[in-house]
Amino acid sequence: EKGGYDHYMLKEIHEQPRALRQALSGRVDELAGDVDLDVDLPTEYLDSLEEIQIVACGTSYHAGLYAAQLLERYADVRVSVHVASEYEFGGGRDPWRTLAVAVTQSGETAETLSALREAARAGARTLAVTNTVGSTVTRDADETLYIRAGPEIGVAATKTFVSQVATLALLAVHVGRRRDTIPAADARDVLDAIRGLPGAVQQILDTDSQIREVAREYADSSAFFFIGRKLGHPVALEGALKLKEISYDHAEGFPAGELKHGPLALVTDDTPIIAVLTRGANPDATLNSVKEAESRGAPVIGLSSAGRGDKYADAALSVPDLGVMEPLLANVHMQLLAYHIANAKGRAIDKPRNLAKSVTVE
Ligand code: M6R
Repeated sequence: EKGGYDHYMLKEIHEQPRALRQALSGRVDELAGDVDLDVDLPTEYLDSLEEIQIVACGTSYHAGLYAAQLLERYADVRVSVHVASEYEFGGGRDPWRTLAVAVTQSGETAETLSALREAARAGARTLAVTNTVGSTVTRDADETLYIRAGPEIGVAATKTFVSQVATLALLAVHVGRRRDTIPAADARDVLDAIRGLPGAVQQILDTDSQIREVAREYADSSAFFFIGRKLGHPVALEGALKLKEISYDHAEGFPAGELKHGPLALVTDDTPIIAVLTRGANPDATLNSVKEAESRGAPVIGLSSAGRGDKYADAALSVPDLGVMEPLLANVHMQLLAYHIANAKGRAIDKPRNLAKSVTVE
């Protein structure tokens, strides 16, 4: 049932091109530069929106952070992203002009459900973005947008992360077109990038043996630091979460600029730096952080498009050209790095200690 793979996680990583095609199927009108999502969010309502509040946990929170940047850019609306367990509706917000969006793969995460209910009680309209048909969140929310990734068995979220980001990117274009904040020509460029995802992810999967070699070389390091800016920041957080979750190694993600404000004290020749050096992630500024780490002897694993930073990287993994979706592609390298490091250590990859696939207690 693992389709010839040793673990569900690896199978699900390899299912990503198909999951992405399903997420996009029938939703993109390339000619019109528009998106057709089956959600009832009337244009007058979207026009009057003051804020979108995203609530989520773990990997879904990272997908929310990625999407927030796209929503702000294309839909010109303020977006706040909340770890669901910390959420409160308040701060003088007008509930009628606030859309609360719960991002949850399972649709059953207790804290995310509570946060969405709090927003609904205050009078906000609610939207669920989920993978699970008929899950609790779909019954609670006013509207549901499915990510259509197919069942995910591995505790580590992989294909659902890329599908969440792709679906939320479609939502950003959908809202932006209705608010008239993104011209059709620009929307077409973004949609081109989104539609390029399945093929580009496949290109990365085809380099798996190279990624495995890099993983083996650094598997015994004492800690791993993931850095990225802009869209590279949520990806760095997600890369670190995946690695710690399945390998039990110490891994942390930072906005690259923060390295010098503290974490640099931990950097040694035994702490690889995994850096997002793609478009959409301010790669030139990130290179400064890479140089800071390198001069302390840290090995650098660079995930870059257009060969950026290859000369500083001890291991260079290449990301296909894909505009604002390049940082998401860098995440696919990180999934495989995490998988191979955990596998080299013989970890229980599909069922890491202490963790559950769906966290239904607060
Ligand atoms: O089902 P959800 O998306 O609401 O789950 C939220 C988190 O528990 C989940 O993303 C968790 O962080 C992942 N297992 C990490 O790989």
